[in-house]
This record gives sequence, C-alpha cells and structure tokens, in this order.
Amino acid sequence: MIGNHPRENTENILEVRDLVQTFSQPYGILDRLTGKPRKTVHAVNGVSFSIRRKEVFSLVGESGCGKSTTARTIVRLLEPRSGSIVFDGEDISAYSPTRMMHVRKKMQMIFQDPYASLNPRQRIKDIIMEPMLFHKTVAGKEEAHAEMYRLLDIVGFRPEQAERYPHQFSGGQRQRIGIARALSTNPSFIVADEPVSALDVSIQAQVLNLMMDLKDEFSLSYLFIAHDLSVVRHVTERLGIMYLGFLVEQGDRDVIFDTPLHPYTRALLAAAPTLDRERTGDPLQGDVPSPIDLPPGCPFVSRCPRRMDVCSRERPVLRKIEGRFAACHLYQ
Ligand SMILES: Nc1ncnc2c1ncn2[C@@H]1O[C@H](COP(=O)(O)OP(=O)(O)OP(=O)(O)O)[C@@H](O)[C@H]1O
Ligand SMILES: [Mg+2]
Repeated sequence: MIGNHPRENTENILEVRDLVQTFSQPYGILDRLTGKPRKTVHAVNGVSFSIRRKEVFSLVGESGCGKSTTARTIVRLLEPRSGSIVFDGEDISAYSPTRMMHVRKKMQMIFQDPYASLNPRQRIKDIIMEPMLFHKTVAGKEEAHAEMYRLLDIVGFRPEQAERYPHQFSGGQRQRIGIARALSTNPSFIVADEPVSALDVSIQAQVLNLMMDLKDEFSLSYLFIAHDLSVVRHVTERLGIMYLGFLVEQGDRDVIFDTPLHPYTRALLAAAPTLDRERTGDPLQGDVPSPIDLPPGCPFVSRCPRRMDVCSRERPVLRKIEGRFAACHLYQ
C-alpha cells in the first residue's frame, strides 16, 4: 500500500559524507602509443550534505559542476570513489548490486528528458506496473493493476489512457507518467534531476506543483537538481551550491537567496535577477576551469572578483557563518 511507510525516527533520510567521484578520460590507441598518462576527471570532490525526511534539498550550479554525478552516485548508479552514503539509516556506500536492489525501490529517479526516459514500445500501464512487479511491492497482477490505475488518477489521467503509448502524450504528460512510475514502488526518496527543464514554461509549474502535492501525500523527500534558480526557490527548503565538484555554500533557502555570502553564489544570483530582488553582485566572468587539473586553492579563484593571495594557495573548507555554511577565505 502506497503512502503509509513505517517511518524511522531518525531525522535524516539521507546523509552524504565526503563523497568523491572521478572518471577516467577516454583513452585512445594514440594515447597508448604515445604513452600519455591517463587523465582523471574530478567530478565530485568531497561533498557532504544531508536531507531531512519530507524535505526538498536542491543542488544548483553551472553545467558540468557535478550535480548529476553526485545524484547518480547517491542512488548507486555509479560506484562512489570514496565517502559514505547513509540512506534511511543504512550505509549503502559499498552495497553490492543485489543488496542495492532492495534499497532502490525506496529511492527513485525522475529524469530530465521525458521523451528518452519512457520505453516507446511499452503501454503506459506496463511502464507503471513494471517496477512494482519487479520489486514485488504488490502481491500480484491484480493488485498491480489496481495500484496502476490509482497512480494514474493521482497524476491526472483517465483509466483508458493506460492503454496508450508514450508517443501519444505531450512532454508534460510524459513527465507525469514518469512521476507515476517513480511512485509505483512506494519510495520515500526521489531524485529529480532537472525534471522540468525540458518542458514549456507554461507546463513547468503544473509538474512542479504536482511533485510538491505528492511530497505531502506520500511523505517524500526530494533531491532536486535544477539550473533555474526561480524554480529552485519555488520548491526547495534548503540548497547547496556546487562549483567544480565542490559544495561552496549550503543552507536554508531564504538565508541563501536573501543574503548570499560566497562570491560564486552572489554571482549566480546576480545573473538571475527576479522582480522582487535587486542584483546582489557582479555577474560571472570567464570560464569554469577544467575538472582534470583542479586548482590547489579555492576552486573559484580564477573567476572570483574578491580573490586574495591566500585563495590560490589554500582550499577553504565549509564553515558555519551567519546561519549557513560557506567555503570562502573572506569569512575564515
Ligand atoms: N561518464 C563520464 N565520463 C567522463 N566524464 C564525465 C562523465 N560523466 C560526467 N563527466 C564529467 O564530470 C563533470 C560533472 O558532470 P555532471 O554531468 O555531473 O555535471 P552537471 O552539474 O550535472 O551538469 P549539467 O548541468 O550540464 O547537467 C563534467 O566535467 C563532466 O564532463
Ligand atoms: Mg546534469
């Protein structure tokens, strides 16, 4: 039965500590012949945060800063290089794929591209029933059918639409189908990686509001990833700002949006002015450095309008300052 999990008493659904993820750069035959060393992409560099039960926590930052890699490592689609992931009280960092299967039904993903993420040859009913039958969260086909119709109704479809195929639906409708599929295993945690970026602006609010209604109805926690700060501000309770695989600032939504401290956060917010807020800093200049050769000091040093000598020598750590955490020498 969906919607009434036995809940643990621990406050956090997820605790991520010092998470590190790297990739080997593709190594071609020419590289081998010339004896070039294999290079490493440092995608996630010691990220720590936690998500409370029934909370929305967002990761924001420019393209390539490691948001998706962090998310994919947390749900163990990728093996973490190091660090720990505690989900619902269990340290899943080193779980085998078999052990992960039991956890995976409790942590589901909603993907960015509602076109690519639904199998075009499956009917909607089978798309939604497949995970519950696979994870055996229902007793059999009959219960799966009943549950599927219930979920379809919750995300706003009529029963007869269950017989259709994905191509018969619009982008927003497909995303709602993806949401029904995510809910089908009775999860307590959902990772939503850019869930509305591919949708028309007019449809985005509809899908976001559905996600937020479901959060209350099903007692869900979300890890929400988006590059649109107005979307994040609308849905999130806390957020972390990532730059070059590092978390540079983290805290409650209003604290971060109203009084950003890290020069990168200030620049991000300044680049996205809203009606009710004036620009708070200088927009960003220059490019993000390569994640292959990380700078020894602050990851943001090459673009920081307030850099000091110490910034290129020493890497700042996240410290509590003025009601949030920030990693910046200006405040250490
Ligand atoms: N499979 C992979 N192999 C090699 N490098 C990768 C791989 N996946 C990601 N990367 C690199 O890791 C870094 C982080 O990528 P990631 O996709 O996590 O960023 P992101 O913040 O999700 O960006 P976007 O906003 O564009 O989705 C980037 O430099 C990217 O090129
Ligand atoms: Mg991404």
